[in-house]
Amino acid sequence: METMKRGTLLIVIGLAVLGFGVAVAASMLHDGLSSRATPTKLETAIARSAHRLAIPASARVAQNPVLESPEDMRDARLHFADHCAICHGNDGSSHTMIGDGLYPRPPDLRLPETQNLTDGEIFWVIENGVRFTGMPAFANGGQHGGDQDSWKLVHFIRHLPHLTAEERAEMERYNPKGPDDRAEEQKENDFLNGPAPKAKPELKDHHVE
Ligand code: HEC
Repeated sequence: METMKRGTLLIVIGLAVLGFGVAVAASMLHDGLSSRATPTKLETAIARSAHRLAIPASARVAQNPVLESPEDMRDARLHFADHCAICHGNDGSSHTMIGDGLYPRPPDLRLPETQNLTDGEIFWVIENGVRFTGMPAFANGGQHGGDQDSWKLVHFIRHLPHLTAEERAEMERYNPKGPDDRAEEQKENDFLNGPAPKAKPELKDHHVE
């Protein structure tokens, strides 16, 4: 009798696990794995808690060693405009051409889901990235200015919900620009300042075909 009960219990548990597995699989495999699909709530919830659990406990409680100063905040803001805004937008909304095409979508960094992360967790994500998502690791020796830059970015992410229009306008000047943007900017400048001076004729002599 005892063993019967245990057997039934195992079957029930087995079915429950199987059912959950099917639900998760269906939740993840929808829309032919196209990244145009919107992740389901279940999938987002599982992915987010998995990412959080993957952050080492010691990293989670790390304190920001950089004191907040206006200079560092400006550094971080322009750094964000240069390296992060392409996906996250200058305002952190993450509604950008790239951000909207990624799966999972980058989250709105101003919302509680991100703001409730500890400083250490935000720092860890910036340094290490998030596997299987578009979020790159920025601790790639040298190219990114080391720990300090990432800690400054943590201060900036805390500031995002209070970003002013002036700060945003300044950031726009630091967003990476392609040749089309540059040509457009040159046209505007020419219009405002008159045409650029013609190239000096002697430059022609040095021209190598
Ligand atoms: C190529 C696109 C891309 C770039 C560039 C990028 N991110 Fe992300 N970021 C993402 C995606 C996608 C996620 C969501 C990852 C996930 O699902 O957990 C993310 C997540 C994050 C998170 C975690 C938010 C949360 O609530 O879990 C932080 C913080 C973050 N990014 C900061 C930055 C900073 C700072 C930079 C620049 C140094 C940056 N990102 C550059 C795509 C990008």
